[in-house]
Amino acid sequence: MQVELENIQPILWEGDQLELLDQRLLPAETKYIQLNTVESVADAITDMVVRGAPAIGITAAYGVVIAARHRYVESTSEWKNTIQKDLDVLLASRPTAINLFWAIDKMRHLIDDIESDPVTILLDEAMQIHQHDIDANKTMGELGAAFIDAGSGVLTHCNAGALATGGYGTALGVIRSAWQMNKLNKVFADETRPWLQGARLTAWELLHDDIPVTLVAEGAVSALMSSGQVQWFVVGSDRIAANGDVANKIGTLAGAIQAKHYGVKVMVVAPTSTIDMAVADGAAIPIEHRGADELLALSGQSVAAKGSEAWNPVFDVTPASLIDVIVTEKGVIEAPNSLKIAELMQS
Ligand code: MRU
Repeated sequence: MQVELENIQPILWEGDQLELLDQRLLPAETKYIQLNTVESVADAITDMVVRGAPAIGITAAYGVVIAARHRYVESTSEWKNTIQKDLDVLLASRPTAINLFWAIDKMRHLIDDIESDPVTILLDEAMQIHQHDIDANKTMGELGAAFIDAGSGVLTHCNAGALATGGYGTALGVIRSAWQMNKLNKVFADETRPWLQGARLTAWELLHDDIPVTLVAEGAVSALMSSGQVQWFVVGSDRIAANGDVANKIGTLAGAIQAKHYGVKVMVVAPTSTIDMAVADGAAIPIEHRGADELLALSGQSVAAKGSEAWNPVFDVTPASLIDVIVTEKGVIEAPNSLKIAELMQS
């Protein structure tokens, strides 16, 4: 099959190799890197060449194809055993986004049933995961935009756009759809310290699509919300627990608390592959902590007093009670709770 690619393409399968848009270089440089080994795919995920929950899952699925190609050439009889080590390498690349584990699990199940050269079958599955994600984003875009009244302002956090997915985006998919429907008065993005996904990536991709964006520092979010300029805080998610608690980029919790205080509604947009029915609530979601350097330096330049230490959790958990609506490709859940999530997942 061929993936019907969107305008902004963070992940490409070209010929017989994986190409990733290096998000560490944006917005200054648009450069793709080619990957041919499972280790380089895992490193690209860990080092944030590619980031965002669905994009990590899709990349890992292509990583399994690369691993299978090598292992099958090595031994046609042993490849199903030897590839397990590669799957473990991919699984260890980042801990919070469930889409990584979901995609590898899907590929692993397929591997069990393959009796011949695995590459074509696994590549087809990876492409289907990729295409399905783009399709899901378009559906969620429409479902989410339906909640937004004409003349509204929205604030988004981190990057939950084309760059974080197969294409189009989750939270930014809703913003793109609402913009196309002429519903949006103004789109705000916060910077998203320390990695600056908002300033570097969200602003870049909105401007790429001719959608005007206004950046705010995270410290300005209360002032922005109290000014009455935003009606919705729209975000993606890395993992949603069975009770509707949402793990997302650090600062989402603060935004949701502020939204509650100022009467701004909170929308979480994520495909059902982000819902982890195996974790009862947000407390059980593993939260990634990254190196102090991400906080103490900017573009390799130190910005903190020499000798400062740093505490750098890169995700937090927003309780379901602070969320007005979760939008998935299977439908929407208002005032999420365990029962509604279970019903959606069974539908
Ligand atoms: O650390 P990142 O950049 O991978 O974190 C990304 C986010 O937190 C996104 O909001 C989330 O993955 C949803 S992406 C559609």
